[in-house]
Amino acid sequence: MPVSALVGMQWGDEGKGKIVDILAENADVVVRCQGGANAGHTVVFNDNVFALHLIPSGILRDGVVCVIGNGVVADPLRLAQELKGLDGRAQGVKGRLFIAERAHMVMPWHKALDGLAEAQLGKSSIGTTLQGIGPAYIDKVKRAGLRWHQARDPKRFAERFLAALREANTYLALCGGRPIDEKEARDAVFPAVDELRPYIADTVALLHNCVREDKRILLEGAQGTMLDVDFGTYPFVTSSNTTSGGCATGTGLPPNCVGEVHGLLKAFTTRVGAGPFPTEVGDAVAQLLRGTGKNQWDEYGTTTGRPRRCGWLDLVVARHAARINGVTRLHITKLDILSQFDEIKVCAAYRVDGAETRDFPADLRDLDVCEPVYGTLPGWKVPLPVCKSLAELPVEAKNYVDYVADCLEVDLASVSYGPARTQTAFASR
Ligand code: IMP
Ligand code: MG
Repeated sequence: MPVSALVGMQWGDEGKGKIVDILAENADVVVRCQGGANAGHTVVFNDNVFALHLIPSGILRDGVVCVIGNGVVADPLRLAQELKGLDGRAQGVKGRLFIAERAHMVMPWHKALDGLAEAQLGKSSIGTTLQGIGPAYIDKVKRAGLRWHQARDPKRFAERFLAALREANTYLALCGGRPIDEKEARDAVFPAVDELRPYIADTVALLHNCVREDKRILLEGAQGTMLDVDFGTYPFVTSSNTTSGGCATGTGLPPNCVGEVHGLLKAFTTRVGAGPFPTEVGDAVAQLLRGTGKNQWDEYGTTTGRPRRCGWLDLVVARHAARINGVTRLHITKLDILSQFDEIKVCAAYRVDGAETRDFPADLRDLDVCEPVYGTLPGWKVPLPVCKSLAELPVEAKNYVDYVADCLEVDLASVSYGPARTQTAFASR
């Protein structure tokens, strides 16, 4: 089946940028399905580090067609800036980058409203990336959003933009926020939209033509399962479906055209922002997992620079993710980080009010009181050697990844032990 999806199985930051980039080697088309500039995918390419937010990671590969799907909320300012940042290092972007005409736009007032909502929540704030993601999706379901096809005609766009801005300003004033300056907003947004206009396309037709032509399509998920608006730790989630279901609704490709679902699982757990995190650890271990911040692989947000919260691998989370996404190929990332430990803890179940469960609870209260039930696996205590196949891993490391794959009943496809493409061991298939 030429269409495959890639999803994060935790709270995002599983190392998707790297794996997408590897999978993109065999792809003709890479598609972003949901989210927006809240995502941050780090790709190391020819010793250059690229932080991509909206543009699909395939852009760094010559000839790969990149689509920003209809499920994405795309900020023209961020997108124009990101294009500039590629700085000629991606060949022939025009003609192979497309923005879905049905995708929604993130506007300056969405960012203002994001900040205002977070400030109003005070201590119970979500810790969003302040990219306007939630408010843009609110406008989408409220049937009041601006879609990219409306930007095809500059005059019509200007009218819609000003009407929406004025309405947002009324609302901002009601909430005690500062109104958006009309001229400033226009001067920023209009040139960006002018620049991006040539990229707007009927991506449903484009993608279905690609399927008919047997092109290999990779659907690139952003964030992770536990940030999914339905299946994550609601309300501490993002505002889109980050799971494989979102790959269909966010592109117009039907679910039965997706063959493999690649699930990405970091060898331990991180989360950025507030909300439940049953296997979170205290400072001493967290610092070892997080790294100093000197390396690009360290656990600091790509979009916000925030240090990430860290903890042991949680198989209750991973099982939940394997089920919901229908993961068929498992990729375990950042195994190298565990090389420092004598023993590695893995959470196999939760104890909630005295009863053990392996199913992820929906209720924040249950997540609040739950205690992780840990098992312990021996560490390998040596830096992982260069290895191309899983069989070459030190025996304890091999046991660790096999144990995880067995628990999830999913085939292990690869193990990453460093940020570079070459630092990956693959299953023989
Ligand atoms: P929002 O998506 O900016 O609304 O943020 C909602 C929650 O999702 C916050 O906890 C963010 O930290 C988290 N989040 C959003 N995007 C990412 C991501 O790409 N990686 C990790 N966490 C994310
Ligand atoms: Mg990220």
